[in-house]
Amino acid sequence: MYKIGLIGYGGMGAWHCDMLLTLPGFEISAVYDINPARVEKAREKGLNGVSSLEEVLGDKNINTVIIATPNNFHKELSIAAMQAGKNVICEKPVMMNSRELEEVISVRDKTGKLFSVHQNRRWDRDFLTVKKILEDKTIGSPFYIESRVQGSKGIPGDWRCVKEAGGGMLLDWGVHLIDQLMWMIDSPVVEVYAHMLSVKFKDVDDNFKLLLKFENGISALVEVDTYTFIPLPRWHISGDGGTAQIDDFSCTGRIVRANTVEMKWDEGIVYTAAGPTRTMAPRPKESLEELPLPKIESDSRDYYKMFKSAVEGSNPLTVTPEQALRVMRVIDAAFESSQKGCAISMKI
Ligand SMILES: NC(=O)c1ccc[n+]([C@@H]2O[C@H](COP(=O)([O-])OP(=O)(O)OC[C@H]3O[C@@H](n4cnc5c(N)ncnc54)[C@H](O)[C@@H]3O)[C@@H](O)[C@H]2O)c1
Repeated sequence: MYKIGLIGYGGMGAWHCDMLLTLPGFEISAVYDINPARVEKAREKGLNGVSSLEEVLGDKNINTVIIATPNNFHKELSIAAMQAGKNVICEKPVMMNSRELEEVISVRDKTGKLFSVHQNRRWDRDFLTVKKILEDKTIGSPFYIESRVQGSKGIPGDWRCVKEAGGGMLLDWGVHLIDQLMWMIDSPVVEVYAHMLSVKFKDVDDNFKLLLKFENGISALVEVDTYTFIPLPRWHISGDGGTAQIDDFSCTGRIVRANTVEMKWDEGIVYTAAGPTRTMAPRPKESLEELPLPKIESDSRDYYKMFKSAVEGSNPLTVTPEQALRVMRVIDAAFESSQKGCAISMKI
């Protein structure tokens, strides 16, 4: 049995337990939460709820500790767990900033333990659909990618509204969307521009737009809103051979691209719904083709299996702290950009 200890039995901690209980060969040996009511909740679920951190870190049988506390506790708990001889899976955002992560990486190096970040959204079907479209060059070479999530309920009124706890949407959803792009696009980020707003929650960003430029010429817009009542598509990708749109997480959408029929320009001005314009007049239908999105299957529990096989030495780690460090440096630059009101150049 691969024995796991969990720290922080809130929403995400409970999710980890639910997932792991369905995976043969994995066992949750102990669950600790600073709040006794949550430990009791774990016990009600038949888990071994324990009342101290030491009972998790001191258990010689536990191989790996999952950390699912609010973000401002990730660093001290990750360091304590590795120093106690445990491998660590830390929830995202891995840390509050890149400096904290550098410190944790140096402890990883000293202890020789494995440290990974739970970037589970690399297994999302919508993301894998986009990745497949780009890999297959279905729309040629991409030059602009829009990745967004938009809700209308604001931020849950917990630690996510508190800056010191690592609240705000850039560290919450932003870290997922940036990680997906940096995992998919094999090129350094060379410029970051962030426009961040605090519409309903004054202490943290609850709406942001982030423009990333990659060295290979691809630009990406990352947008997260918590107060938008008419959402835009989850993904919109422009390539030099066509356009792909993924509407939502259920992966409806389409690909439209130019076919081999030569497109001829009309002579003179054209009267369209947009008024007199040749540039924005609709393209002749016979020069277009529409394709369905590729069908992708995925299971986010593969994350745990891959981590276990990395611990056993069969595979390299899938989500490494070095990858997470690139993402955190982009996030640091985004905060700096928003504060200074200008783009930040870099090569990350
Ligand atoms: N990967 C994902 O898709 C995903 C989704 C949601 C949340 N998360 C991440 O998971 C983490 C937890 O988020 P959540 O939504 O479960 O929050 P939550 O508030 O529901 O749960 C956090 C739990 O941690 C406990 N806790 C706080 N400080 C502690 C400490 N020092 N030691 C032990 N327990 C402590 C709290 O009592 C609470 O039960 C965050 O880092 C968040 O960003 C990840």
